[in-house]
Amino acid sequence: MFNVENKVIAITGASSGIGEVTAKLLAKNGATVVLGARRTQRLEKIVEEIHNQGGTAEFKAVDVTNREDMKAFIHFAKDRFGRVDVIFNNAGVMPLAPLNALKVEEWDTMINVNIHGVLNGIAAGLPIMEAQGSGQFINTASIGAHMVVPTGAVYCATKYAVWAISEGLRQESKKIRVTTISPGVVATELGSDITEESAKDTLKELRQIALTPDAIARAVLYAVSQPDDVDVNEIIVRPTKSAF
Ligand SMILES: NC(=O)c1ccc[n+]([C@@H]2O[C@H](COP(=O)([O-])OP(=O)(O)OC[C@H]3O[C@@H](n4cnc5c(N)ncnc54)[C@H](OP(=O)(O)O)[C@@H]3O)[C@@H](O)[C@H]2O)c1
Repeated sequence: MFNVENKVIAITGASSGIGEVTAKLLAKNGATVVLGARRTQRLEKIVEEIHNQGGTAEFKAVDVTNREDMKAFIHFAKDRFGRVDVIFNNAGVMPLAPLNALKVEEWDTMINVNIHGVLNGIAAGLPIMEAQGSGQFINTASIGAHMVVPTGAVYCATKYAVWAISEGLRQESKKIRVTTISPGVVATELGSDITEESAKDTLKELRQIALTPDAIARAVLYAVSQPDDVDVNEIIVRPTKSAF
């Protein structure tokens, strides 16, 4: 596809859900994809599937909360393929709970993965893209970057932050494209880390109407495939039937 073929695209959160399906779609359209996450057995299997379809892919273990780890992941992509055209900062967690449950460690985890993870991706990739004179960050926010729901205060706060960081980066960058993707409800493993009973019910309720991850993957493909002078800054993708 136009402006996708042969691009080197590093993807975090690529071991399941949106990241996995996006990696496969981009590879099918000729991109070289570098997959990162912690569950390497899954990454290995996904990379094997991409190879079997004739695509180009590699994987590397990464914990996005660790700045050095993230740097090593992005530099792995650059060393292996010579450049880094797109970084899809997509890893995220969502242990929903009401604030008065005081799940303070889960608050920290969300802040570390969802905010520091994106910042670590920017810190690792921005110098490379500035030296290249081009590049694109695609950051996964959420519909939770545009509205807050009970049990979602901290999760939504992290996604508002992803929105703000992306917007700031966009304003500061004349050569680097910045895209914020805000999915509505998508059927993935997200939320499997919820420990609070009422929040499990909230998620079950929300998931009654959900997209499949390919809907988000197509939005990423669209943003990447635009000509270099076109910067698709923001995409919200909701299930048609959903009010959220
Ligand atoms: N599903 C939805 O309804 C929805 C809606 C709006 C936004 N989103 C956002 O979409 C993104 C992808 O989520 P998903 O729905 O595809 O859920 P998912 O299937 O649970 O995927 C989450 C991914 O993040 C990775 N991850 C989590 N912590 C990590 C860490 N410390 N270091 C590296 N990777 C880490 C996981 O891999 P490992 O566990 O293998 O590390 C996994 O690959 C997230 O940012 C999420 O907030 C999802």
